Amino acid sequence: MSATTIALNAPDYVKHPKLLAWVQDMVDLTQPRDVVWCDGSQAEYDRLCTQMVDAGTMRRLNAAKRPNSFLACSDPSDVARVEDRTYICSAKEEDAGPTNNWMDPTAMRATLKPLFTGSMRGRTLYVVPFSMGPLGSPIAHIGVELSDSAYVAVNMRLMTRMGKAVLDVLGTDGEFVPCMHTVGAPLEAGQTDVAWPCNPDTKYIVHYPETREIWSYGSGYGGNALLGKKCFALRIASTMGRTQGWLAEHMLILGVTNPEGRKYHVAAAFPSACGKTNFAMLIPPKGFEGWKVTTIGDDIAWIKPDANGRLRAINPEAGYFGVAPGTNMKTNPNCMESLNRDVIFTNVALTDDGDVWWEGMGEAPAHAIDWQGKDWTPAIAKETGAKAAHPNARFTVGATNNPALDEAWDDPAGVAIDAFIFGGRRSDTVPLITEARNWTEGVYMAATMGSETTAAAFGAQGVVRRDPFAMLPFAGYNMSDYFQHWLNMGEQLGQTGAVLPKIFTTNWFRKGEDGQFVWPGFGENMRALKWMIDRIEGKTGGAEHLAGVTPHYQDLDWTGLDFSEHAFDAVTSINPTAWRAELDLHTELFDKLAHNLPQALLDTRSLWAARLGA
Ligand code: OXD
Ligand code: MN
Repeated sequence: MSATTIALNAPDYVKHPKLLAWVQDMVDLTQPRDVVWCDGSQAEYDRLCTQMVDAGTMRRLNAAKRPNSFLACSDPSDVARVEDRTYICSAKEEDAGPTNNWMDPTAMRATLKPLFTGSMRGRTLYVVPFSMGPLGSPIAHIGVELSDSAYVAVNMRLMTRMGKAVLDVLGTDGEFVPCMHTVGAPLEAGQTDVAWPCNPDTKYIVHYPETREIWSYGSGYGGNALLGKKCFALRIASTMGRTQGWLAEHMLILGVTNPEGRKYHVAAAFPSACGKTNFAMLIPPKGFEGWKVTTIGDDIAWIKPDANGRLRAINPEAGYFGVAPGTNMKTNPNCMESLNRDVIFTNVALTDDGDVWWEGMGEAPAHAIDWQGKDWTPAIAKETGAKAAHPNARFTVGATNNPALDEAWDDPAGVAIDAFIFGGRRSDTVPLITEARNWTEGVYMAATMGSETTAAAFGAQGVVRRDPFAMLPFAGYNMSDYFQHWLNMGEQLGQTGAVLPKIFTTNWFRKGEDGQFVWPGFGENMRALKWMIDRIEGKTGGAEHLAGVTPHYQDLDWTGLDFSEHAFDAVTSINPTAWRAELDLHTELFDKLAHNLPQALLDTRSLWAARLGA
């Protein structure tokens, strides 16, 4: 079929000439079999899911156990974000900075053009209009993803506000970020499809920050393919925020209401796989019955100053794409309840009664089909180490399934942020909780945040990977410029006279001499959260040390938990030798980020070193 004979099929309600012209160009380039404009309706979602069940891409789960839910299993080569194939193609290399892969945009376009040419042959091109954030919110932005994956289309319906209503907001000339996606597996005439098409050899996740475009080739999975999430809402949006005076952050947002009925909002950044979804859906423990925690978002926050200089945040997403393994009724009961129905699971195991299972969910079934379609039993697992679910297995579910959803989660005005939390994963050195004495010190803490790698994710265990602001794989521009943007925002907001959010760091992961975690974590993290709220209200004390202010034992509320002063010391003590080594590692990071590194951060380091007598 020649390119010109492919009908665009645009519905009457599409009235945006630039959008129509772009879709036409992309149709000409990728030469799909046909074009479907997604309206975002339930009927469309049901139709696409049924189509994928018929094609073997998804399996319908037992309706009595998991109503309206599906399991998709990906190609074993396509199971996670591909950071080494992810590029920031700014005009100048220094604008991508040393933490991003960079290629000259002209060279990248020349690389991608032949790959995208004819890449959708034999497939349907789905036009997926989506809003990141409540429709029409002054903090929200619109994207349009073109994808040859129905799996992407249905996931985007759960993860974003998607469909016709978005085009109504876009009108005839609204701005949108073009997001181009192909699985990179054209079907030549007569060729039968596979259950999970992708390109096992070639993958590119490309961002052009100056022209605000995303081009993704070769993967159908998660953040590589659902382009609203990491690609738009973090990498492209961070560059937009820099020029427009706002923040796009890898942060959950929660509401916390104290027994007196006063409500606060907290935005918290944790590196991937550090329990963000658990914290966003926290259930206060025994002894905290008067407290309430509600979820606004579990992964990303867009934060903009209002007319009074107050920072207001929205969750640009409308659903959760969370890691399933390790999620259970103890670690996250609200999440487990969210997953009772209307879920797309990816790469978990299928039980014999048509339900799902993953490691860390609870008692193992006697038999299951693992994520690669093989028989799995506890005995096989013991013998071979085979995992029933892939360690990065996921669930996709709409936010409205969450029993702890905040009433303002969809409010176009967003919520006013009272505190930021930056949480690393460190077995030593960094205390359970620390409050920054001022904005600059908070930015320093966030910039030097570290996380110990886990064997499953990043190779050698226990190596500290610096993950500034938990944004290492997500900042769309030079990390040092990003630090400067945070410093500038603090200065500008300070000039308005607005109260700046307090900045805290947390570390739930200190280990004792026996190598075990000392802090119980999960719901018990409420005790740390309460201290932060009490600090905002000026109601509690803390001990000042070289790196900020950390509570004394008596400053935390221990009702309902037996946690000794000795154990508290193990999670909060400052070891000068460890901190000397830590500050050396900060210097190593700063050397790497030397280009445009703000002087204020170097000054803070000197201040800390002087306090340490180093
Ligand atoms: C995520 C991540 O998937 O941070 O949210 O990797
Ligand atoms: Mn994330």
